[in-house]
Amino acid sequence: MSTVSLPVTTERLVVRLFTQDDLDDLYAYQSLPDVARYLYRPPLTREQCAESLARRVGGTPWAEDGDSLALAVCRADDAGVLGEVVLKLASARARQAEIGWVFNPAHGGRGYAIEAARAAAALAFDELGAHRLFARLDVLNTGSVRVCERLGMRREAHLVENDLDGERWGSEYVYAMLARERQADRA
Ligand SMILES: CC(C)(COP(=O)(O)OP(=O)(O)OC[C@H]1O[C@@H](n2cnc3c(N)ncnc32)[C@H](O)[C@@H]1OP(=O)(O)O)[C@@H](O)C(=O)NCCC(=O)NCCS
Repeated sequence: MSTVSLPVTTERLVVRLFTQDDLDDLYAYQSLPDVARYLYRPPLTREQCAESLARRVGGTPWAEDGDSLALAVCRADDAGVLGEVVLKLASARARQAEIGWVFNPAHGGRGYAIEAARAAAALAFDELGAHRLFARLDVLNTGSVRVCERLGMRREAHLVENDLDGERWGSEYVYAMLARERQADRA
């Protein structure tokens, strides 16, 4: 099991593990074509959401490459899930963690993704011992670019046509932040 202290509360949000009761909320955003647009996969069916939820409920280990921790994000005054932030252990040896986010557009543009990502970054560095936190995103995904930049991540790389998204060659940015950069930022 992951060894993080959950739930985390922020100014407006609660960041917690998913539960079986979250299926409707998860499906509400994971099934939307606009949400899946830059995820390099089709929207999820309800069955795929149920399978994903079954893997997420109760938390997951954080020990080996590929382990991931999916966090449900809710408003403090409403148990409904607004979206998710996912941390993935890209390299246990080098303490590299990847962060990603998916939010329901019905609640977009209010700073919830940024606020939740900040809380997840704190978990990655302070509790999971990450040395470097990075995000990979399609260069056309301007919402995600803004979240990375508001988090204080550096744009480290621009990978040109490194993936195929249906008929379109996709290009990606890699954004990252080191633990010591975050500490310097806080100081
Ligand atoms: C990427 C994604 C999470 C961004 O969501 P979002 O709702 O636009 O994000 P936020 O609301 O946190 O932040 C965006 C805006 O809210 C604004 N905002 C409003 N109130 C705010 C507050 N109280 N605090 C901080 N920001 C606030 C910010 O200024 C920001 O505005 P800007 O776009 O002018 O910079 C969302 O578009 C998404 O889920 N996309 C689909 C999935 C996806 O592509 N995921 C990424 C794969 S790499």
